[in-house]
Amino acid sequence: MSGIYKTVRGALSSIEKRRARDTIFYGDSLDLVRNLPARSIDLIFSSPPYCMGKEYERSSSVDDFAANHRVFLPELVRVLRPGGSICWQVGYHISPVQVTPLDFIAHEIFSGLGELRLKNRIVWTFAHGLHAKKRFSGRHEVVLWYTKGEASFDLNSIRVPQKYPGKKAYRGPNKGKYSGNPLGKNPGDVWNVPNVKGFHVEKTNHPCQFPVALPLVFVKALCPAKGIVFDPFMGVGSTGVAAAMEGRRFVGAEIVREYAETALRRILEARNGRAVYRSMEQPIHEPRPTDAVARKPAHFRG
Ligand SMILES: C[S@@+](CC[C@H](N)C(=O)[O-])C[C@H]1O[C@@H](n2cnc3c(N)ncnc32)[C@H](O)[C@@H]1O
Repeated sequence: MSGIYKTVRGALSSIEKRRARDTIFYGDSLDLVRNLPARSIDLIFSSPPYCMGKEYERSSSVDDFAANHRVFLPELVRVLRPGGSICWQVGYHISPVQVTPLDFIAHEIFSGLGELRLKNRIVWTFAHGLHAKKRFSGRHEVVLWYTKGEASFDLNSIRVPQKYPGKKAYRGPNKGKYSGNPLGKNPGDVWNVPNVKGFHVEKTNHPCQFPVALPLVFVKALCPAKGIVFDPFMGVGSTGVAAAMEGRRFVGAEIVREYAETALRRILEARNGRAVYRSMEQPIHEPRPTDAVARKPAHFRG
C-alpha cells in the first residue's frame, strides 16, 4: 500500500499499518512530525527549504531558516530511534552581498540538542550551475550525517570499485599479496554526482531535486532491512525512490500537491523495479573532442 494523505490522522494510521509501504503526507511537515511517535523512525534524509524565496518557500531570510530549524530539529530527534541517523542536505543561502553556509547554522542547532553525534560532512560536488560574476561559481553542497547514539554502518553495502585493484603489498607478512579489499573501497567524503538539471534522467517538475544516488548510499548503509526512512521535505520523492529501490518503508511530507503526486508516481515506479535513476558509478560525461559543443570557436581565448 502506498498513498497520499491529506490529514495527519490518515497518515498516522497508514504508518501504523505494518503493510503500508509508502505514506505521503500532503501538508505541513511540522504538523506530521509533532504527531509521529517517539523513536519510530530509523533514518531521516532531507533537504529543507533554504529560505531563498523560491516558488515553494514562504521566506527569503537566513534568520527564518534558523528559526524554523530551532522548532523543527528537536522534533526530528524525538522521532528518531536510538541508533538511527539524520542526514541533512544543505547548500548556501545567497544574497547579493554574501553567502551563508546553511550547514553552519544547522550544525549549531543540531549540536546544541545534545543527543546527536556528527559522523561525516559529505561534500557533494557537481559541474553545472549558475555562473557567478562577482565570486567563484558555487559547485558543491553538503550532507551532514548525525547519529543518535551509535549506529551500525554497513560499509560493505556501499563500497565502490578500487582505483588500483591490482596493487600488491610491497613489504611485511603480506608482501606480494593483493592489498585492496576485493569488495571495493570506502567511497570517501567527497562525492562527485551530477546535479539534477536540464536533461538529467531524473528531472521532473521540481526546480531543486537532489539526485537519488545521494540518499541511496545512506539508505543502504544505515537503514535496517525493515526500517522506516523519513523525508519531511520530500519534494518529488527522491529519498522515497531510494527507500523503495532498497525495499525499505517510506514516510514523506510535502506541502505542494503536484510535487507529492510526482513523488508517489516515482516511488511506485521504483517499487515495481522501474526506478528512473542515475547510478553514482556511471562515469561523468566528457564530450568527445569531435563533438560540436567541444570545438573551440576561433574567437575563444586559450
Ligand atoms: C529543497 S526541496 C526538496 C527536494 C527533494 N529533495 C527532491 O529531491 O525532490 C524542499 C521541499 O520542501 C517543501 N516544503 C517547504 N515547506 C514545507 C513544509 N512546511 N512542509 C512540507 N513540505 C515543505 C517544498 O515544497 C519543497 O518541495
